[in-house]
Amino acid sequence: MNLVKRFISTILSLSFFGPGVSAAGFALNYEEFLPKSNDFGTEVFYCAEKSGELTDYLSTKRLWLRMLELRLKNDYEKFKSYGLNLDMSRGKPCKEQINLSKDMLDIITSESDCKAANGVDCCNYGVVDGIPEAKKLFSDILGMSSESIIVGGNSSLNMMFDTISCFMFSGVNENDPWIKQGKIKFLCPSPGYDRHFAILEYFNIEPVVVPMTKTGPDMDMIEHFVSTDEKVKGIWCVPKYSNPQGITYSDETVRRLAALKPKASDFKIFWDNAYAIHDIRDEGENLLNIMEESKKYNNENLPIIFCSTSKITFPGAGVAALGASGSNLEILRKKYSIQTIGYDKLNQLRHVKFLKDFNNILGHMEKHRKILEPKFDVVLGHLQKEFAESKLVTWNEPKGGYFVSVNVVNGCAKRVVSLCKEAGLVLTPAGATYPKGHDYDDSNIRIAPSYPSISELDMAMQLFCLCVKLAMVEKELET
Ligand SMILES: Cc1ncc(COP(=O)(O)O)c(C=O)c1O
Repeated sequence: MNLVKRFISTILSLSFFGPGVSAAGFALNYEEFLPKSNDFGTEVFYCAEKSGELTDYLSTKRLWLRMLELRLKNDYEKFKSYGLNLDMSRGKPCKEQINLSKDMLDIITSESDCKAANGVDCCNYGVVDGIPEAKKLFSDILGMSSESIIVGGNSSLNMMFDTISCFMFSGVNENDPWIKQGKIKFLCPSPGYDRHFAILEYFNIEPVVVPMTKTGPDMDMIEHFVSTDEKVKGIWCVPKYSNPQGITYSDETVRRLAALKPKASDFKIFWDNAYAIHDIRDEGENLLNIMEESKKYNNENLPIIFCSTSKITFPGAGVAALGASGSNLEILRKKYSIQTIGYDKLNQLRHVKFLKDFNNILGHMEKHRKILEPKFDVVLGHLQKEFAESKLVTWNEPKGGYFVSVNVVNGCAKRVVSLCKEAGLVLTPAGATYPKGHDYDDSNIRIAPSYPSISELDMAMQLFCLCVKLAMVEKELET
């Protein structure tokens, strides 16, 4: 017994995995996770002895890892016993955010005349592309003229889907419709937004993964694909506070996109500006206006720009819009005029009366910011506390948007997500941030801090960090 104790305390007092001794698969910073109690070590040693693995364990690294694993599992079991039921899977605004816009519901009543500025009765049919004051509102958000705007229904994703559907079935610039051009391709900066990728799958369009950099997608790769391959018809871009990494495209990236020389004359940039005014920090980031840049290269037919009030007012009951060149609008208006006799103008009117003008919207967004900032701080604080010293776990520190993107050791993301789920915390499925749900590295995890309360987030992040450590230790023990 004394011998065993001495052995263990020797182990605990040594730094076995300091510089120069790297683990087989990756370099865990073991010292971060060192068991602090000698009793615990003794317990593990007996455990190992009992299981007959002692000789194997005399490889100190494995002993060390087993100790860590047991300790982490012990904590994990405690979490499981709490019966948590938390959801950080989607970027959903929380109740307090929703409440910021509840007054809007009292703006239009049975007493209201429900007339738009041009006299149109918003209760009746008509006006396919939106009432003028709604167009003006979106023109301010997107930095485009009102004439370039089509106001749609409640979802910008729906407008993106419809736009692709439109180009699938009606040719652009004398080209055959995309559906008649064989297997076409879309560039997919990744990690990216899972629902963009799902639209491609639906239309049987081949996704081409383009890695993201700190300044936006890899532009060398994009220029190469776009200028050499006629089958490349589009690219998904979330240019400001990208989903999930929170990256804002640099001016140079926007300029290079605006100046593309596509081989396909029906190539389009799907510019999903979902987070155009969604800062988390006091000082947000600026995005160059792609339409203005495109005009400089006679490329105004490239971008189609989307946004909505889903994360300004009500997700699922907001108003969406797109902005595009005259020639693109012509094609899209034709489609919309067949597809609908007019979107919900009462909701447009209600939104304009509530949001008033661009300055007022910015004031409203400041209220969202104040709710979201402390939530992001909790998430980032936990990551910082647990992994700041480690090079194995990396994450972004976004100034806006709805997500924190975490990269764990390759091969561990799925395991982390499944461990979290088993203990009552739902995350976005690992792999979802890549086309076809396939992250080749199995490394990226998207965290959505907006919905849970601060105390729930605090608990969720403790569990998340624990699961990350456990999955990494398990992985290391496999080698
Ligand atoms: C990048 C991006 N685009 C679009 C959407 C959905 O927008 P909407 O509610 O307007 O359909 C989301 C929602 O999370 C998103 O992250």
